[in-house]
Amino acid sequence: MNQHNLAYLKDVILKAVHAVGFEVNPEDLHLEKTKTLEHGHFASNVAMFIAKKYGQSPREAAQKIMEAIKDPIIKKAEIAGPGFINVFVEQKFYTDECRSLCKNLDIYIQESLGFKPGEKTLLIDTSHPNVAKPMGVHHLLSTIIGSALAQLYRKIGYNVINDNYIGDWGTQFGKLIYAIHTWGDLAKIEKDPIPELLTLYVRFHEESEKDPTLDDHGRAEFKKLEEGDSESRKLWRYIVEISLSEFQKLYKRLGVTFDVINGESFYENKMESILNEGRKAGIIVDGEKEAWIIKPEDPNDPPTVVRKSDGATLYMTRDLARIKYWEETWHPDLMVNVVDVAQSLYFRQLFSATDKLNLTKAHNVHVNFGRMSFKDGKMSTRKGNILKLEEVLDEAEERALKLAREKAIELSEEEQKELARIMGIGAVKYNILSQNRVNNITFDWDLMLSFEGNSVPYLMYTATRAQSILKKAGVDEKEVESYSLQLDDDHEKMVITDLMMYTDALHRAGEEFKPNHIANYLYALAQDYNALYNALSILQAEDNAKKTRLLLTLAVIRVVKHGLTILGIDVPEKM
Ligand code: ARG
Repeated sequence: MNQHNLAYLKDVILKAVHAVGFEVNPEDLHLEKTKTLEHGHFASNVAMFIAKKYGQSPREAAQKIMEAIKDPIIKKAEIAGPGFINVFVEQKFYTDECRSLCKNLDIYIQESLGFKPGEKTLLIDTSHPNVAKPMGVHHLLSTIIGSALAQLYRKIGYNVINDNYIGDWGTQFGKLIYAIHTWGDLAKIEKDPIPELLTLYVRFHEESEKDPTLDDHGRAEFKKLEEGDSESRKLWRYIVEISLSEFQKLYKRLGVTFDVINGESFYENKMESILNEGRKAGIIVDGEKEAWIIKPEDPNDPPTVVRKSDGATLYMTRDLARIKYWEETWHPDLMVNVVDVAQSLYFRQLFSATDKLNLTKAHNVHVNFGRMSFKDGKMSTRKGNILKLEEVLDEAEERALKLAREKAIELSEEEQKELARIMGIGAVKYNILSQNRVNNITFDWDLMLSFEGNSVPYLMYTATRAQSILKKAGVDEKEVESYSLQLDDDHEKMVITDLMMYTDALHRAGEEFKPNHIANYLYALAQDYNALYNALSILQAEDNAKKTRLLLTLAVIRVVKHGLTILGIDVPEKM
């Protein structure tokens, strides 16, 4: 059973609900913050839910439940409005919560959510750019959203493997090798690898329109590569390596790491058994022109091709092998692919084929996301003009530096530069992560780098200012951790109830694979804390109030930093 916070309170109310003979699923019981202290600390609408289900009066249901609530942490409960149950909790409960949250947030979260560390395993497929091509904007989204989700699941106690499934195999490499042999210049490639390889690849396509026999050459080259021809392998390996080292520059700037990089080529020799077994079981059957297919469930859907007429495997076949390998190697509970919404049909087909072939018991999820656009239209790609991700990051840092020079005047030039780097990269990440990924993601420079509103500078400023209050108080953080809360003011109450909802925000973000629940939560917490700061004095307050506010301040710092860490965002020492 959960020991802490909302989960515990919910459980207390749920027990009362059951005690008076109503059936409610835990997911249907919600607790919200109340606006002021007179209305209690938390409110539940469970009585309204029950009233609908059982055809009762909500206030009567609320009365019954209220009378059945028995737990020393509930000081009292009241009915409000159409049938809300408002509960008042004991101050000691808040103090205990706040202290254990400060002491070790990771453990607090895991206990709250009821996870034993390492009990469950998540495999996540993120970033996955294609070798010999520039990283696209959708790869940036997949990298940032994916690494936030990996970090979130780690923090809630999962064993997480973040796998970068790069696109490094397929017939296009035959074409590329042919193009390099025919028109390429290795010295030029060495100097500026990705644009040069892209040019060669584009040239192949242009020339093959005039001369279709080029496609046969491409196929022949890929066959050579598949068969292990040492020259072809050498060239291919070289292409993969220079591409990866280009990608690595961007990952380094973003502070992103992977546990494994098993690209598509890794599965080259792991597909045959799937094909053979699928054939034997009659799941993989003959399609048109000797291709091998899996029939769609819906006859209107296209069949899933797993082997081409010439015997070559496909993107789909490699993904099936990946799933089988993940299953056999890590026995995951969850397998997640963070990929552009454009591949939705593809993933439906993949998961359906996975089920039919019985490749894993894990739950497979396609975490999709929309497109990215710039509010002022600037930096958007014109047709055939590729948006350079480095340029987006450069611009973010430049703008952040301007801001740092304006606002952080006490800092030295060096410190301002470091702040700008943290703030610029943080702003790009936060901008992506604070929006609902299923919608299109807009880039609004002014909002991203503003000290007001839902932005990284605002959150960083809140955390660094709170940090400096603690410093000025001149007490050791360990000592603050032992203070008690005595809530007398609504501002304090808002902050502590926010703090207790942190695990809820993490839980939702995890369930829905949406980091924006964390971002929005942090923003609300920061707003409530800043309202407290503006309304009440902290350092000049009398003893109990001062201790209460310092403990809240410490907890806010810990939670904001923790949340931003999940989002992959650093907090500067000062600003
Ligand atoms: N490399 C692919 C692309 O850029 C994305 C890979 C997505 N993951 C997967 N398991 N298919 O389109």
